[in-house]
Amino acid sequence: MCGIIGYVGGQSSTPLLLEGLRRLEYRGYDSAGISVIDAGKLSTRKRKGKIDDGLARLCADSPIEGNIGIGHTRWATHGEPSDENSHPHQDASELISVVHNGVIENYDRLRDRLVLTGIEFQSETDTEVLAKLIGYYYSQEPDHGSVDRLVHSVEKALKEVIGTYGIGVVCQDFPDTIIGARRGSPLLIGIGENENFLSSDASAVVAHTKRVVYLNDYDVVTLTAHDFHVSNLGSDTAKVQISQIEFDAEATEKGEFAHYMLKEIYEQPQTVRNTMRGRVDIENATSIFGGLNLDATQLRSIRQIILIACGTSWHAALTAEYLIEEYAHIPVSVEYASEFRYRNAPIESGTLVIAITQSGETADTLAAMREAKRKGHTCVAICNVVGSTIARESDGGIYLHAGPEIGVASTKAFTSQVTALTLLAVMLGRIRMLSSRNGMEILQSLQAIPEQIASILKQHDTIRSIAKKYASVSNFFFIGRQYNFPVALEGALKLKEISYIHAEGYPAAEMKHGPIAMIDENTPSVVIAPTDFLYEKTVSNLKEIKARKGPIIAMTTEGNDRLIKEADDVIWIPKTLESLYTLLTVLPLQLLSYEIAVARGCEVDKPRNLAKSVTVE
Ligand code: M6R
Repeated sequence: MCGIIGYVGGQSSTPLLLEGLRRLEYRGYDSAGISVIDAGKLSTRKRKGKIDDGLARLCADSPIEGNIGIGHTRWATHGEPSDENSHPHQDASELISVVHNGVIENYDRLRDRLVLTGIEFQSETDTEVLAKLIGYYYSQEPDHGSVDRLVHSVEKALKEVIGTYGIGVVCQDFPDTIIGARRGSPLLIGIGENENFLSSDASAVVAHTKRVVYLNDYDVVTLTAHDFHVSNLGSDTAKVQISQIEFDAEATEKGEFAHYMLKEIYEQPQTVRNTMRGRVDIENATSIFGGLNLDATQLRSIRQIILIACGTSWHAALTAEYLIEEYAHIPVSVEYASEFRYRNAPIESGTLVIAITQSGETADTLAAMREAKRKGHTCVAICNVVGSTIARESDGGIYLHAGPEIGVASTKAFTSQVTALTLLAVMLGRIRMLSSRNGMEILQSLQAIPEQIASILKQHDTIRSIAKKYASVSNFFFIGRQYNFPVALEGALKLKEISYIHAEGYPAAEMKHGPIAMIDENTPSVVIAPTDFLYEKTVSNLKEIKARKGPIIAMTTEGNDRLIKEADDVIWIPKTLESLYTLLTVLPLQLLSYEIAVARGCEVDKPRNLAKSVTVE
């Protein structure tokens, strides 16, 4: 949510900042801006709208040059998207410029105090309050010509802030230094050769360097072209560890695909394989995880599992509830992280908490995990982004290895999450009552999934024509039972997110308890009906919809020709175990929502009002 980039080195910073912002645009695209120290003078350009339509044009018409600068792409929290509310924001003397991710919760009180000192504000943002506060302290500090004056001012201001921040600060008086700081919003240093970067996201610096330092909460970094120094507001020493980015710059490009979402849908045969790599122990019919940090005795003593997540990751968690209960007989509860964090839920000892998150930065999931840890529970994470806050703060975990997911609508992360959770469920089962024969059957079927996904992708043309047929409807239903209920929810979420069609997912049998009242000839339903043990019951629900003239798109197992006469359209799924259908039935729904969004002319990768990675509450 919002993106930060900073550069200091020998090159001209403006093109580097613009390039970094383009790579960060999936984090927020309401407006963008840069501040550069240009011939000893701080200059700022900022504009409402997408980077290429707004900021890049502004910089072409009114160029700024310099070897140091900071940039920001915004997802509005305080104040509507406008030129004035765009970052960077300046202090009252206009010597200091600040970019900020996060939310300053006590900004109105700080603002009132600053107004009393005669300071005027140009925007409605909380960030401008922080910039003015830093400037206020800067004006009060003795001028000894050292950058410490700036560092102290930033630190004093941050100590007054309630809320979250990842910030970048430049000051005209120190044209070789960027200050960065974080609490609750990700920030990293990219270490180059005679140049350094500051960013909220590894994908913005990977084209220049793979060496990074992920900052911790309360860290303050002073960054020059040749050096960096990290201190911590909360302790005497800061922990600094240099890490390597695992992916290449190419992985963040769209390549031949029209959209990131489409590229990521097509990557799934490979990303599911990557999630499985090195983790399937066929000989022992179980799974192995290097980083879980739990031995067999600890795993055996788990009495209950709580899964915490948001959005699509929450749907993966729901699938895991079925998987873990079926394979391992451990009671599971699935919690919205945003609710769990504030609930006083009684948690028994022997409970394992699992945070599921693609980004590893979702504010609610992070807070829920911290709350569970504070209560003394073991928390592991299933996470895609290496080095992310949740990955670092958890007691252990499983990385998805799905590569960067840029499309705001999550696709490949979901199938990798379900793959990882299936492996985990097998492992938990195999130290309990899951037989080696059943464990083997699950693992062998799982290994066949990538090929089966590839075969589903071959139905893309059919799905495109179904999408064109229904692109102009206003309402859509998705129904499924058991393992396909979370898929129904996920299909509805995908469609809402990128096509703005109202869509709802239900357990198939729930339709008749209310939602069926919405069905008419203009309200299609996707019925997920593989030939599982509840197939006949799902078909009955399909017929109930059909009897009310609702158009039906059925998804069923290859070879089951029975649905051809019942449904308006049929999408075929290869046969697998009932517990693995999720990994197949979700694919057509990703493609369907993608094609509907394209047919409606929607901006697939930058859906309105959304941003990848929700780092605010
Ligand atoms: O990074 P996370 O998995 O924690 O993100 C959770 C949700 O914000 C995310 O899944 C969101 O719902 C996606 N836009 C869904 O496509």
